Amino acid sequence: MLAVMGYGTVGSGILELFYKNKENIIKKAGKDTDIKYILDIREFPGSPYEDKFIKDISVILEDPEITAVAECMGGLQPAYSFVKACLEKGKSVCTSNKELVAAKGAQLLKIAKENKCNFFFEASVGGAIPVIRPLHRCLAANEITEITGILNGTTNYILTKMFNENMTFGSALELAQNLGYAEKDPTDDIDGSDACRKICILASLAFGRHVYPDTVYVKGIRGIDREDIKLAAEANCHIKLIAQAKKLNGGQLEISVQPRLIGYDNPMSQVSGVFNAVTVFGDAIDRVMFYGKGAGKLPTASAVIADLIEAVKHDRTVFSQDWDDTDGSFTVPYSETFAEMYYRVHGNSAAETVRNIFGSVRFIKENSPETAFITDQIRMSDAQLYKERLAERGIEVRAEYAVTGS
Ligand code: HSE
Repeated sequence: MLAVMGYGTVGSGILELFYKNKENIIKKAGKDTDIKYILDIREFPGSPYEDKFIKDISVILEDPEITAVAECMGGLQPAYSFVKACLEKGKSVCTSNKELVAAKGAQLLKIAKENKCNFFFEASVGGAIPVIRPLHRCLAANEITEITGILNGTTNYILTKMFNENMTFGSALELAQNLGYAEKDPTDDIDGSDACRKICILASLAFGRHVYPDTVYVKGIRGIDREDIKLAAEANCHIKLIAQAKKLNGGQLEISVQPRLIGYDNPMSQVSGVFNAVTVFGDAIDRVMFYGKGAGKLPTASAVIADLIEAVKHDRTVFSQDWDDTDGSFTVPYSETFAEMYYRVHGNSAAETVRNIFGSVRFIKENSPETAFITDQIRMSDAQLYKERLAERGIEVRAEYAVTGS
């Protein structure tokens, strides 16, 4: 028997999808099963599931019939305490909660293993896209070298609306919220922390050591101006919020979440609306790309239910992946990383000064009255010095973004 913790967007999607496809789901699980409880502190009068609602976690913990639990409460507490308690009782947990996995994944996987149950989190990254299990299983023979993704549906939706329909940032965000894409606190989407949690989960899985969100360079989309979207288009690029983790030759990890100009010839630049995409690079596969709806009620519920099916099928067998805990010291400081950079600057005859400071650059726009350009690969600590030199000459940097080619 199953329980669902949290009856919000994802939780209600699980109930809807489970009863729509119940016969099929049971066949795939290989055992008869049903959702016995829904845990939520709120009241849902008139709900078709009224008799399933409970408010006390101990009902789930003390019921030996419950073997697997879906957690879609979001946030760290009380989700962490509830999930830990379920695992300690030997009940598998399937979660869509990226914050929980990014902060406590290594620890919860260990507890699951010790108690012969599973901690699954396919829905925590990429919504409907099967990426966790393929990364862990189908690509297991590879040395993974890089993961690059558009991992936040809300910001990709906003950027697409700004580009295609010249919509303002605020109106696009409101639409994304109405569609159930955004987090409870949408600043988690806009400022990049949601994408950061997701790349940490993928990097932990791929590289075998827990990557903590506070070790990642994160810059969100808040400052993106429609002028930059237009100028990027003149350079045959879209601007996308890109999460990237690369394993460097010395074994260290370069990891960031930031808006990047992406050339039209890169498939990542064609990922629109709420869709997410993840490209995984490995020594045997070259690259594999995963693509699908990254947020929303039913796409996310689809991934949680797939995990519940696995949990039912593999009851009392440890089937989930794990990785080592770490102090996070294997990430390279952002100042030591390299990138081609896009700048939009304002100041008199800026183009000539830019040439003097940055050397070889490609201009998108010159002295009218702003100047926009793309540099060659530069080190981020040098980029900082160059900006200081621009400021000394009265030139103001109005926008700066990394650039990714093919
Ligand atoms: N707020 C998230 C997004 C939901 O927009 O991608 C799915 O994790």
